[in-house]
Amino acid sequence: MTSALYDDVADWYETEFLAGPDLIGVNDQLGRLLGPGEGPCLEIGCGTGARAAVTRGLGWTPVGVDLSAGMLRYTPGRLPAARGDATRLPFASGSLPAAVAVMIHTDVPDYPAVLREASRVLRPGGVFVHVGVHPCFCGAFADRKDPAAVVIEPGYLDGAWTKKSWTSEGVRDKVGATHLTMPGLLRAFVAAGLTVEEFSEGGEPTPATFAVRARKR
Ligand SMILES: C[S@@+](CC[C@H](N)C(=O)[O-])C[C@H]1O[C@@H](n2cnc3c(N)ncnc32)[C@H](O)[C@@H]1O
Repeated sequence: MTSALYDDVADWYETEFLAGPDLIGVNDQLGRLLGPGEGPCLEIGCGTGARAAVTRGLGWTPVGVDLSAGMLRYTPGRLPAARGDATRLPFASGSLPAAVAVMIHTDVPDYPAVLREASRVLRPGGVFVHVGVHPCFCGAFADRKDPAAVVIEPGYLDGAWTKKSWTSEGVRDKVGATHLTMPGLLRAFVAAGLTVEEFSEGGEPTPATFAVRARKR
């Protein structure tokens, strides 16, 4: 098997990046938008399994898929997980009541294809929760050095994959990140057959994350 970008940073991601407080509201938004339920909840791009406690705490049974064997090394005891590609999920069409994708949309070259695949595996009425970096206020074009005065430079409208970042302590400078505009992101939900239902933002005073709850039509 070939290596994945996150293989080289898995230990840093688990022990340093995730170690601090969740100031950008990832777990909180995931929990509020997903809500209680029963049955399998697929985490697409589950990484080290850090979000499994949130979904399990709501009554769901977490199960994960991720491209990185290095990240998956941390999943035992958190959730059952398999190595796989988010655009070719190892699940039958219409088989799942819930799926989530947390902080991965900038890590894949074609997130609209991931949304189409999530929609394929969800059963009608199934819930899908996306939590990701905020398309408007977080990206290579956003200098967040001073949290009280975020500077938005050109690049939002025509952003592409880059490792450019205002900080050397984040993910983008290590593995790179893609960019979708807000309309581009929301349009991809609609095109995938997902009906958007609720939204939220996390981080203050300028949000760093944006989340969506949608349902398979
Ligand atoms: C920033 S991490 C987020 C991990 C986890 N969801 C979390 O919230 O901590 C992004 C994850 O997406 C995974 N990933 C990137 N491209 C992928 C793909 N095509 N299929 C599955 N996982 C992918 C990476 O390996 C990595 O574990």
